Parts: sequence; structure tokens; C-alpha cells
Amino acid sequence: MSSIPPAPLDAAQLALAAAPFGSSRMLPRAAYLSDDVLAWEREHLFSGWMCLGRSAEIKPGGLRAESVGDYGVLLTRDPEGELRAFENACRHRGHELLPCGGSSDAKAIVCPYHAWSYRHDGSLIGAPHFKEVEKFDKSTLGLKSVRVQEWHGWVFVDRTGAAEDFTSYIGELEGIVAPYDAGTLVTAETHTYEVAANWKVIVENYQECYHCSMIHPELCRVSPPTSGENVELPGNWVGGWMDLRQGAETMSLDGRSGGVAMARLDEHELSTVMYVAVLPNLLISLHPDYVMTHQLVPLSPGTTRITCSWAFPADVAAAEGFSPAYAVDFWDLTNRQDWSACESVQRGMAAPHYEAGPLAPDEDGVYHFVSKMARAYQGS
Ligand code: FES
Repeated sequence: MSSIPPAPLDAAQLALAAAPFGSSRMLPRAAYLSDDVLAWEREHLFSGWMCLGRSAEIKPGGLRAESVGDYGVLLTRDPEGELRAFENACRHRGHELLPCGGSSDAKAIVCPYHAWSYRHDGSLIGAPHFKEVEKFDKSTLGLKSVRVQEWHGWVFVDRTGAAEDFTSYIGELEGIVAPYDAGTLVTAETHTYEVAANWKVIVENYQECYHCSMIHPELCRVSPPTSGENVELPGNWVGGWMDLRQGAETMSLDGRSGGVAMARLDEHELSTVMYVAVLPNLLISLHPDYVMTHQLVPLSPGTTRITCSWAFPADVAAAEGFSPAYAVDFWDLTNRQDWSACESVQRGMAAPHYEAGPLAPDEDGVYHFVSKMARAYQGS
């Protein structure tokens, strides 16, 4: 029996969203608009394994703080390279140790409020004016640690410490991502967007190309919108692949690559792009020559911060004259087309009589996500 309580949503509407494909409906309107639902998601979805960003952002001897919406996590890497994660809260009176989004290469973590100091392993070094205080036991006042895992260059944390084993969380996605050697890729560019849409609207949009012929003319020139297939395999993710048109090397405005195809890809991987949503908040787009990721942080029911990054093989990124613009320009344009549609969906769903609609036969990828969410909301 699961100990997760049901989300504050209508049970009959959730049952419809979880019904077999072909007869199901989208999630109820409140799933996208309600503060109470977001609070439930933060407690039960965004508290187990979730992505915090790229591990290369935390250099040996470095610190970085990341916000995950309603709280912060402090990541540290000691000079030997070991990554650790802690709650970004001082053990004295809770001040954040680093502002979220900030980095430092300081040798010790010093709280900016009253200067308690900590090592990279979270242990307390000292607290001003406590020398004479009886029963002050430094060994009990280390930072609260958070379970952390590096996976192909991404950092994941599990705040609860009780989420399933990371290997089963990722499941069969391991074999799909491994040939791209994503852990060795170098991020060449990052864009941050704040989108006025619920985080699930963005995942749903990513899971289908039913909309592509309407809003993505540039994408349709390099990838047939009805091509490919969605897959259902073990792991807490959903996804599928789409073809590149004959003669197209990658997703770019002219279909040409400004880089080099990755060394270990097979024929299928060289002629397709794999789109994966690792739940709850990481979208990975595996191209023959680069990997793009979108990391989502819900800021409110109707607002999501999206960090999009483009990573390339290290020798390609370091080559003289290399520019990531061929990939970045294409996807920045496509992203903005998507965000505009997602924001319109969010506004449309606010209409008082909006009801969840049915899914088209091409939207099986959306169904995989929506039905997973419906089951999670049911407390199963
Ligand atoms: Fe950090 Fe006081 S809150 S030293």
C-alpha cells in the first residue's frame, strides 16, 4: 500500500485521465491552476528524485546553491571530486548559506548571517562566541544532508531520502542515453526562460508533434511531424523518437550540423532525435551531434522557469571557429513558438467552463505522461 495521499482533485476526472488510451481525457482543469495541487506536487513529486542541473557546474573545491521552487539545495564538491548535497539552511537560525543560483570556490562554507562555518562535507568548523558555551556539541550541528546522484553529467537529488533506488528510477533509459556519452559533453550555451504556463503544459507540449505543422514550419522542414514512435519501457520517464528528413544531419534551420556526430551512435540514432521527459523536471533531446536539455522548476501553478542548455563533444566545443548557433538558434526559435502556445493553453484553461478534452491518436506520448500523473494523483 502506498502512503502517498491522493491529490486534491476530483476522483472521477482522475479516473477518466487514467482510462485506456482512446477513451481517456486530459487532466482536470484544477491540476493546472490550483495552488493546493502544486503544494501536493512539491510534497510528493518534487521531493523524490529530480534534476538540479549539470554536474560540471560544481568544480572540485566548489559550492553551488540551486532553488527547486520552494527550497534550496547546497551542492559541494571536495577537492577529490566527491559531490555532496545539503539543505541550504544554516544550523544556527536557518539563513541560506549561498543565495540560490550562486557559486563559490571558498575553502569553507561561511554563513553570511553570524559566520558559522562548515567544511565541504557539511561538518561544522566553528561558531563565533560559542567557545565557552557548555554542552555545545559541534558534531551534532553539521548541515542536513540530501541524497544525491550524478548520472551522465546531470545531478539528481532526493530530498526525502526514501525514493526508489536510482537505477530503477532511470530503468531502461540508461541504455538509450549511454551511447551519447552525455557525461563527457560540454555545455556551450544556456538560456533561461520564465514561461506563464503550468509545468505539465510544457511537458505535454514536448510529448507530441500533433501541433508541429501548425506552429513549427522550421522544424517540419528538417523532421517529418508524423514520423517516429513513442516507447513505453521501465523507469520514471516517457519519450519517443522522430526521424530526421533524408539529407538532414540534425535539427538546425538548414538541417546541417555545425559539429560532428557522436562516435558511438548506430544508424538509427544517427537519423533520428530521441525526446525524453525524465519525471518530474528534466527533458532530454538526444541529437546525433548535440544534447539539449530543458530543466523545469515550477514557480507557481501558472509559471515555470525553464533552463535550456546545449552540450557538445568536448573536442568539437573547443575547436577553433566552432559556434553552437546552428543548434541554439533553431531551438530558441522553436522554444519560443512552444512557449507562446503553452501560455495560450494556460490562459484558455482559466476559462470557467473549460473541461478536459480527449487526446488524438498521435498524442500517445501525452497519454503516457498524463496517465502516469493521474495515477500519481490518485495516490497509487
Ligand atoms: Fe547562520 Fe546564524 S543563521 S550563523
